[in-house]
Amino acid sequence: MAIQEDDFKRVISHAKEYGFVFQSSEIYDGLSAVYDYAQQGVALKNNIKDYWWRAMVQMNNHIVGIDSAIFMHPTIWKASGHIDAFNDPLIDNKDSKKRYRADVLIEDHVAKIEAKIEKELAKAAKRFGDAFDPEQYKATNERVAGYVASSKNILARMGDALTAEDLQGVKSLIEELGIVCPISGSANWTDVKQFNLMFGTKIGASADTAMDLYLRPETAQGIFVNFLNVQKTGRMKIPFGIAQIGKAFRNEIVARQFIFRQREFEQMELQFFVRPGTQKEWYEKWKETRMKWHYSLGFSPDNYRFHDHDKLAHYADAAADIEFKFPFGFKELEGIHSRTDFDLSSHEKYSGKKLQFFDPELNESYVPYVVETSIGVDRMFLAIFSKALEEETLENGSTRTVLKLPAVLAPTKAAILPLVKKDGLSELAQSIFEELQWDFAVSYDEKDAVGRRYRRQDALGTPFCITVDHQTKEDQTVTIRHRDTMAQERVAISELSQIIDRAVNVKHWLQKMK
Ligand code: GAP
Repeated sequence: MAIQEDDFKRVISHAKEYGFVFQSSEIYDGLSAVYDYAQQGVALKNNIKDYWWRAMVQMNNHIVGIDSAIFMHPTIWKASGHIDAFNDPLIDNKDSKKRYRADVLIEDHVAKIEAKIEKELAKAAKRFGDAFDPEQYKATNERVAGYVASSKNILARMGDALTAEDLQGVKSLIEELGIVCPISGSANWTDVKQFNLMFGTKIGASADTAMDLYLRPETAQGIFVNFLNVQKTGRMKIPFGIAQIGKAFRNEIVARQFIFRQREFEQMELQFFVRPGTQKEWYEKWKETRMKWHYSLGFSPDNYRFHDHDKLAHYADAAADIEFKFPFGFKELEGIHSRTDFDLSSHEKYSGKKLQFFDPELNESYVPYVVETSIGVDRMFLAIFSKALEEETLENGSTRTVLKLPAVLAPTKAAILPLVKKDGLSELAQSIFEELQWDFAVSYDEKDAVGRRYRRQDALGTPFCITVDHQTKEDQTVTIRHRDTMAQERVAISELSQIIDRAVNVKHWLQKMK
């Protein structure tokens, strides 16, 4: 656990030191759970969004994108159920006066049990070597099987209590598990209460005519209320999807874990409209497709797992998370929800407008069912960034910090470095930079010794360093250094564009989904 916490601290400080993520309003001591993306961070974030958009919209003829407004008519949130049901169960510790999400306290308790399982598995893997089968060990080793059963049982009991809105049951579970406040160390808890997560604001010039609004807590509703406009103007036939990337806002109480849980964040959501009765099939299909998208980025599949929900949201008939192995354990990265016809039917009811599709094959109109995929851009950023960050010990015993980002997502694809500033090398390097700039995000750096510049580019996740030296003047060749292997090769300047393109082209990466 301590190692994981250290890893996480390293991730946060690396993100700051190299210009990826800053605390919002830092010179005013910051704003809790709000972050700014800096010069490197915004590029990585944009690349993540582009990778998603291309996979979802560009590569699917039956999916289109929109960008709806953050401000929406307040009745939308009544219809969607957010005013009545978008709550977190909160509990206060009477001694520390600190407030917690009751379900997170229980989940953290389960995470500790899961850490014990991982530890036992790691020990056993060392003992048994290649023949080790973790699943079999989990089922047969008495102690580990006990941990597995206990964590499942706790989560199931929590799910049941939350579904039944049995807040007293949630409190009893916390007490029974002996969960204490991390600050005061006491189990002196208040009752569990529900707390609505939406931020309110007002629109209008004078106090008496101003209208109460909410900052949207999800982008999905902007898609639902535009369903008919898009279907008609785009001449879309079911099944079809509408995708959107945009900001969402939630007054999160448990504000920690860096950009994992923020009050202002970005979502990439797809609402896929299907014929009623086919939703299960599409739900399974989207689960598979989305997992393939994650795998295409090249991190080990061990970092991902599905978690099927025991407790379903008010709109869903099936739901699963894609969980990722963050430095603080497996946590939700993306949600896939079979949302039934809940949202469209409810908007029909509240708006008085029909939101139906005439299906020419069935010769009938119906309210479509919806399968949703929803992933936080910031969580995706944290997943990629934390997994890519490595501290390597080299053969000569020195260490290097390297950010092994998938090349397609790297903020800078290549850095152009003159070996020295004199002898016309700067001018030559500058001209290569200016040529590559038309096609790729590249940078130019002539400060410090070249070894130090390599290390800096490693830490920024730049896949290639291109060094211009005296030989370049003679034969129009440069050295290209590969970030992950540190291997260097001599290539012609005329080949550079092709080499970089092969490594960073979105097409090559997305083709791995096939
Ligand atoms: N439209 C469905 C929806 O919003 P959700 O599970 O509440 O579902 C979807 O959120 C995704 O949005 C999550 O899987 C997560 O990646 C991201 N997300 C949710 N709350 C977040 C927060 N406070 N900070 C950062 N990302 C968040």
